Amino acid sequence: MFIVSQESIVGRRTSGPSGGQGAPRRLRPRWARLAVLVVALIFGGGTAAANGTPEEDTCTRCHSGIPQDPRWQHSYQDWQDSLHANINVDCHSCHGGDTHSSDAPEAHRGMVPVGGGDTPQTRLMAARMCGACHPDKYWGFSHSRHYQRLQEGKPAAYCHTCHTTVGSRVLTPQTIAAACRKCHDDPSPGNIPQVAETLLTHLYQVRLALAFRDPESRLTDEQWQAIAEAATAAMNAWHEFDLPAVDRALSLGTAMLDE
Ligand code: HEC
Ligand code: HEC
Ligand code: HEC
Ligand code: HEC
Ligand code: HEC
Repeated sequence: MFIVSQESIVGRRTSGPSGGQGAPRRLRPRWARLAVLVVALIFGGGTAAANGTPEEDTCTRCHSGIPQDPRWQHSYQDWQDSLHANINVDCHSCHGGDTHSSDAPEAHRGMVPVGGGDTPQTRLMAARMCGACHPDKYWGFSHSRHYQRLQEGKPAAYCHTCHTTVGSRVLTPQTIAAACRKCHDDPSPGNIPQVAETLLTHLYQVRLALAFRDPESRLTDEQWQAIAEAATAAMNAWHEFDLPAVDRALSLGTAMLDE
């Protein structure tokens, strides 16, 4: 996963909206930060090592001290509370810009334009932002009806519908139906929010079974492996909003667990 992430970060930096002439100059410090991240992970140094040099990152330094504009869709605190903050996915990792300038307009130059309201265009831009590091999830999403609608300039769900703006949180079976019901309000049996809730419950049951393997279980390593693969297949289908495919993958996993 990290290998993919790093490659796609570089890919985006040279070809994305923040690319162009200044891009190669910006590569070095970011690679340096990635190296720090990798070293921190390998040696278990954690976030202290990864966040070691605050003077390097003017985004967080300045933004930690400015008041939250009520129009902004996430706050400095949201970011601090996210998994991303702990693994050195900082403001500039998502937004771009120049982390070495302490002058706001200059620091903001070349940022990915996600501001200015919640429109289909900014939703697409935001999803692409996430896709730079999560290409498999983005691939699934880009094959969904939701994505197609955003491209047509019509409202639809995107990454943040399920993950919040700064990412790294996932909806629970308790909260997913309400998020879908904002647009899918058909009350008939088998409606989308209800199916989503049931499938997510099953997915988490499979994940729990995988995380806390029952020592008494008669399943072989190969069977556990197959269950893990079923969970991954379900997650990928989920990102395509292909609920029948999620159901098929999970049925396979739960059938083995029930054996
Ligand atoms: C010296 C302080 C300062 C620095 C450094 C700084 N910002 Fe800002 N930022 C601000 C202020 C003030 C605003 C609100 C007014 C404005 O848009 O300029 C803002 C606005 C923003 C916005 C919203 C823009 C919009 O279009 O609505 C984003 C996103 C942002 N900053 C990200 C960053 C990132 C990423 C970095 C580092 C590359 C950074 N900032 C560096 C002070 C700063
Ligand atoms: C994981 C990616 C990610 C990280 C990390 C992140 N942001 Fe954002 N940010 C976004 C996305 C995506 C949006 C657009 C809102 C949306 O689509 O929900 C956004 C929106 C914003 C906005 C509001 C822009 C507007 O005009 O609506 C500001 C300001 C901002 N971010 C600043 C920051 C700062 C400062 C940091 C670091 C402390 C940061 N962000 C870290 C993804 C991120
Ligand atoms: C600069 C790279 C980068 C960007 C951009 C980025 N992420 Fe992440 N994200 C990571 C890494 C690295 C991890 C940890 C490893 C993993 O789970 O893939 C992670 C983890 C996650 C997780 C899993 C959290 C968990 O508890 O397991 C979610 C969900 C997530 N990101 C969503 C998003 C969303 C949504 C966006 C766009 C707003 C985004 N990410 C943008 C690098 C990034
Ligand atoms: C319909 C809701 C939904 C949408 C939309 C969605 N996700 Fe997810 N995502 C989930 C669920 C549910 C999980 C947890 C699956 C699991 O635990 O197996 C997840 C997991 C993830 C993870 C963690 C994967 C891992 O390996 O642990 C990442 C990263 C992620 N999503 C990124 C994205 C990105 C990027 C987008 C937009 C392109 C997106 N998601 C759109 C529901 C969604
Ligand atoms: C912002 C509005 C919005 C939200 C939120 C939303 N959807 Fe949708 N969704 C739509 C629209 C509009 C369509 C297209 C309906 C059509 O074309 O008939 C759609 C279509 C779908 C489809 C059919 C896809 C296909 O290939 O035909 C599924 C499945 C779906 N949504 C699942 C979900 C789930 C699960 C959630 C909650 C995590 C969700 N949606 C949240 C607007 C939304």
